[in-house]
Amino acid sequence: MRLKNKKIIVTAAAQGIGRATALTFANEGAEVIALDINKEKLDEISKENPNIKTEVVDATSKSEVESFCSTIDSIDVLFHAVGFVHHGNIMDCDSDEFYRSVNVNIYSAYLMSQNLLPKMLKNNKGNIIIVSSAASNVKGVPNRFIYGTTKAALNGFVKALAADYVSQGIRCNAILPGTVETPSWQGRVNMADDPIKAREDFIARQAMGRLAQPKEIASLALYLASDESDFVTGTLNLIDGGWTL
Ligand SMILES: NC(=O)c1ccc[n+]([C@@H]2O[C@H](COP(=O)([O-])OP(=O)(O)OC[C@H]3O[C@@H](n4cnc5c(N)ncnc54)[C@H](O)[C@@H]3O)[C@@H](O)[C@H]2O)c1
Repeated sequence: MRLKNKKIIVTAAAQGIGRATALTFANEGAEVIALDINKEKLDEISKENPNIKTEVVDATSKSEVESFCSTIDSIDVLFHAVGFVHHGNIMDCDSDEFYRSVNVNIYSAYLMSQNLLPKMLKNNKGNIIIVSSAASNVKGVPNRFIYGTTKAALNGFVKALAADYVSQGIRCNAILPGTVETPSWQGRVNMADDPIKAREDFIARQAMGRLAQPKEIASLALYLASDESDFVTGTLNLIDGGWTL
């Protein structure tokens, strides 16, 4: 029960990393509120663990985030996993696609953090964990132009937030996964001209020669969410099977 008495909000909780993390947190005793835009899949997670409360919230909508956060009195941890992968280089990324990624990947983190931070400051204790990516300022990855750009921005976001609030009991850290076997990753593989080769290529780029499972990312999230990591802030935590060695 490493998260006993902790109240945690998990975004993008209906599938993939967010789902695995919400379940891990709840199994470790946390009171979890799972947010997503996919109601059907959210319902599945609360069936799997009835202690997880769910709510449909679009993390890019100012009004929805404000309205949801107004119902929250106090909160210990925000785990923010909302993100979108645009495939292509700068020439493939028109203005609409550029701003879509900025909106989903950066603005959502800003909205969730800005609305929940005051509740954390009331208690002089809080913890924000942002799911970024190894594809960022850490590693340039072909055809991940706007994705890598926005994830690099998130790494800066985490450092800035950590610096501003370190003296007020707030921690902020990032998780930078390599390739994780999630439904959206599977979707990207299926969309490739040759899905079998695409899968092999994704696997080969991790030096360990395999993909991560969402549960492995959840294990790192568990450490960062717990008091065991109380001395840790402003860190960019790679978990990438040796991709960036
Ligand atoms: N899968 C990978 O290989 C990988 C690698 C590095 C980083 N990441 C990052 O991890 C995070 C999660 O990715 P994943 O592959 O586990 O998940 P996913 O893409 O499979 O699922 C994302 C979830 O987010 C929800 N969502 C999308 N937009 C939303 C919004 N505006 N508000 C609320 N919910 C929304 C979706 O409904 C979905 O349930 C993302 O930020 C992604 O960039 C993933």
